[in-house]
Amino acid sequence: MALRLSNRIVLVLAATVFVASTASAQNEARERCATRLSGSLLGQTPTTALLGATNPQTSVDAMIATPVFQEKFSRFINAKLNDDPGETPAEDASYSLAKYVLQNNRPWRDMFIGLYRVNPGATATADAVVAADPNGLGYFRSRAWMVRYAGNELDGYRINAAYRMMNNVLGLKLVAAVNTNGVNAAGRMQAACAGCHYNNTFGLDYVSKILSRRVGTDAATMTFRAPSEGPQPVLGGMMLSDDKAFVTAMVNSTDFKFNVCRTAMEFLYARAEFKCEGPVFDACMASFDTTSTIQSAVAAIAKDPGFCQ
Ligand code: HEC
Repeated sequence: MALRLSNRIVLVLAATVFVASTASAQNEARERCATRLSGSLLGQTPTTALLGATNPQTSVDAMIATPVFQEKFSRFINAKLNDDPGETPAEDASYSLAKYVLQNNRPWRDMFIGLYRVNPGATATADAVVAADPNGLGYFRSRAWMVRYAGNELDGYRINAAYRMMNNVLGLKLVAAVNTNGVNAAGRMQAACAGCHYNNTFGLDYVSKILSRRVGTDAATMTFRAPSEGPQPVLGGMMLSDDKAFVTAMVNSTDFKFNVCRTAMEFLYARAEFKCEGPVFDACMASFDTTSTIQSAVAAIAKDPGFCQ
């Protein structure tokens, strides 16, 4: 009898220890989740409230709605869409417009086809200003951005802008050939160049023929004149005639959505080791399809159970 009693006591004790250790493992997992979310979304250590939350992932939408997220994401996007920081805030037009789009809960496509213009602030260092413009095309028709990527092609074709547009909207990555100065449009038809400059999917020369053309080389005084060579084969053989038709076609493609979710994954994981497939990626694509905001793409990934495992 005495033996059985003490056995029971041992059993009860063991059960208590087991419950306590499971509870503390769960707490640790929650705290890890809170830390991860706060770090990825806001770049901050978690608040006490988030650390104590039963399910930190229910706070994702609230975190994404904060100015801290808007600032962090706009900086991330600007660094992704440009190789270097701009010399003036207006050159970093993608930073200013991203912030505007996030603050106003606009569809992400507004970055590229929204009726806006990013103007320089009152002084060289003042923040750039986003203005409504019926003739706008995201930040692609904003002067500081156009001058930044005008390039110095002999005939004023804006090859660099053509590349930057496809890179920014679709994530296309090409490495330019070196020492190509002095080779004109006909020269770029040679085999070593045509693969990038003349193909009817992302041919840089075809695209630049439908963009406005640079006139002059001085940043302060250069002007841009309308394209005059008619429709060109781009994006897999579509015959398009201007930048607006071109960017609109890109934004309407599945590749655009794919790139949005890829970008959201990159932002959250801060590394390239993820697969653009599987349930999380699908959840992101579905969410973006429904709402068109990049916030929803980021949220779909951050709320996935896998993000906190
Ligand atoms: C692998 C793809 C690729 C190949 C091949 C290629 N280029 Fe390019 N080229 C680019 C990209 C990308 C840019 C835009 C670079 C940028 O935005 O900084 C570019 C830009 C240019 C420009 C515009 C530079 C400016 O400042 O306006 C010229 C001229 C040019 N390439 C000539 C050539 C010539 C000539 C060849 C063949 C010898 C060639 N390229 C081969 C990808 C390529």
